[in-house]
Amino acid sequence: MRILLTLCAMALAGPVAAQQAADAVAPETGTELGLAASSPAVAAALEAKAAGRPVEAETWMVAAAHPLAVEAGARVLAAGGSAADAMVAVQTVLGLVEPQSSGLGGGAFLVWHDGTSGEMTTLDGRETAPLAATPRLFQDAQGEPLAFFDAVVGGRSVGTPGTPALLAEAHRRWGRAPWPSLFDDAIRLAEDGFAVSPRLAGLIAEDAERLARFPETAAYFLPDGAPLQAGASLRNPDYAATLRLLAKEGAAGFYTGPVSADIVRAVGSAPGNPGLLSQLDLAIYQVRARDPVCVSYRSFEVCGMGPPSSGALTLGQILGMLEPYDLAALGPQSAEAWRLIGDASRLAFADRGRYMADSDFVPMPTAGLVDPSYLAARAALLAGDDALPEVAPGRPAFDHSHNLADDIALELPSTSHVSIVDRFGNVLSMTTTIENGFGSRLMVRGFLLNNELTDFSFATHEDGVPIANRLEPGKRPRSSMAPTIVLKDGAPVLAIGSPGGSRIIGYVAKALIAWIDWGMDVQRAVALPNAVNRFGTFDLEAGTAAEALQDPLAALGFEIKIGDLNSGLHAIALGAGLQGGADPRREGIALGD
Ligand code: GLY
Repeated sequence: MRILLTLCAMALAGPVAAQQAADAVAPETGTELGLAASSPAVAAALEAKAAGRPVEAETWMVAAAHPLAVEAGARVLAAGGSAADAMVAVQTVLGLVEPQSSGLGGGAFLVWHDGTSGEMTTLDGRETAPLAATPRLFQDAQGEPLAFFDAVVGGRSVGTPGTPALLAEAHRRWGRAPWPSLFDDAIRLAEDGFAVSPRLAGLIAEDAERLARFPETAAYFLPDGAPLQAGASLRNPDYAATLRLLAKEGAAGFYTGPVSADIVRAVGSAPGNPGLLSQLDLAIYQVRARDPVCVSYRSFEVCGMGPPSSGALTLGQILGMLEPYDLAALGPQSAEAWRLIGDASRLAFADRGRYMADSDFVPMPTAGLVDPSYLAARAALLAGDDALPEVAPGRPAFDHSHNLADDIALELPSTSHVSIVDRFGNVLSMTTTIENGFGSRLMVRGFLLNNELTDFSFATHEDGVPIANRLEPGKRPRSSMAPTIVLKDGAPVLAIGSPGGSRIIGYVAKALIAWIDWGMDVQRAVALPNAVNRFGTFDLEAGTAAEALQDPLAALGFEIKIGDLNSGLHAIALGAGLQGGADPRREGIALGD
C-alpha cells in the first residue's frame, strides 16, 4: 500500500510532490484501519493524513493517537474548555480505546506554556517505586538481573500510578470546565461500547499468551479464550465505574478507598510474580512541578521535561552538538547529515546512561550536560568523516564526584503522545505511558497497571561503582519521554512528542530537524522515515526511503539494522494559524477549528 500511494502521488503531482512522497512514510487510511469516520471533521482529518497534508485551523487544535480520543478533546475545546480540560478528556478515552499504551494505571509528563503569563511549567506524574522495594528487586538469588519479561509480567514491575494525580493537578492549575464533565465521553464509550481498532486487535493477538495469565485481563482481551477481533464492539463497565468515582471524588477516589485497595491486592497476589505496592505508596503519591530544560537550537528554544526524564536533556544534547553543522545545506537524503545526527545521538546516549536518573535521589549534572561550552567540545568530536569508532560519556561540569557506572535499563516501545492548543493561547504537550505494551498485564477495575519499574537499571553497581538509575524506594525510574514545546522569540511555535521507548528521543529529534532545518511542514516532518542511533546500531525504517541510507552509512562504519520503527509523533505548529500533524504509522489524527 505504501508503494501504491507513493506512485499515485508521483503520477498526480509532478516532481516536487514525487520528492515529497519519497521523503515520507505513506499513511494507512482510516478505512483500512477499520476506524469509521464518525463526523465530517474526522473524515477530513483522515483524508489530510492520507494525502500527507497537515490539518489547518485558526483557534484551537488537538492531536492524539485515536480519533475517538481526539474527538473527545475537540468537544471540550469547542465548548470553550482549556487545553488542560481537553487533555483530561483525551487521556480518559485513550485509556479505553488504546489501553495498551497509557491510562489511569500509568504515568505521564506534561509541558505547559501559559497563554496569559507566558510561563512554562512541567508536571512530573511519573510512577514511584514502592517504599518496600529494594535496589535488588529485579535480581535473582545470585544477584543476576532477571530476564526482562520475567520482571515485567506480574506485580513486581508495578510502580505507584501518577496519571490520575496529574489529571487532577493540571485541572486544578489550568482547568476551566467542570471536572466531572470531562469524563462524559469516556464513560459513554465505556458503557455503550466502541469498535476495537485493528492495531489494538493485532497487539492483543501478539500478546495473547501473556494476557491469558491473569483472569481479569484474559476475560477482557480474550473473551471465550480468543483474542478480540478488529471491529468488535467492546464495553468496559468497570472502567466507567472507576471514572465515575474519579469524576465525583477527584484523585482521592483513586488513591484512597476501594480502587487503591484493589490495586494493592492485584499487585500483591499476582501469580508467580507478586509486587510490593502498598496503600501507603498510593496515599502519599505526589505530582511534582519541575523546571523545564531548554536548549537553543538555531533561532529556537527547545524546551521539555527534565529529570527523571532523560528526554529533554538527551534531545537537547543532540541538537546542541548539531548546532555547528549545516544540516539545512546537507538535506534529508544526505548520509553525511545522518552520520552527524547518528553520532551526536550516540554521544548523548552515552551521557544519558552514565548521568541521567531521578535527580531527587541522585546528584545530576543537569546544567552541565547542556552547557554550550560542554556541547561545543562534544560537537568537535563529530568533525571527522566516518562513524566514531568508540563513544564514551563526557565529563560535564559537576559539583559531585564522577564516580557513576553506566546503566543497563532496557526500554521497549509503547506509550502515547498528546499535543493541544486552546483558544486562550495555552499550549500543552504530554507523553503518557504504562511502559510496555499492556504494561504489567495486570488489570484492575477496567484499566491496566504499569510496568514502569522495569525502566530502572536491573543492576545496581558495576565493579562496585553505583549506577545512577538504580532502583530505590520512592524513586522515579528514568524515562525517555520527551514532550516538547519549541519557542521562537519567547512565543510557542511547536508542540510535539512521541511514544517509542528510548527511541522517542530519536523520533522527536528527527521531526524537529525536519521542521527546523529541512523546512518541512508538521505532517511531512512526522512522516519522514525514521533513522535512529542510540547505542551504536543505526536503525533504519524498513520499507521506506531510509533504506537507501544503508550502504552509504555502512561505508562510513556504522552497523545497520533495518526494521519497523513505529513512532507515534503528534505535533501542532503555531504561526499565522495552526497546523497539525499525526504520525501515519498509527491511528491518530489532528482536529481543529
Ligand atoms: N516507559 C517509557 C519511558 O518512560 O520512556
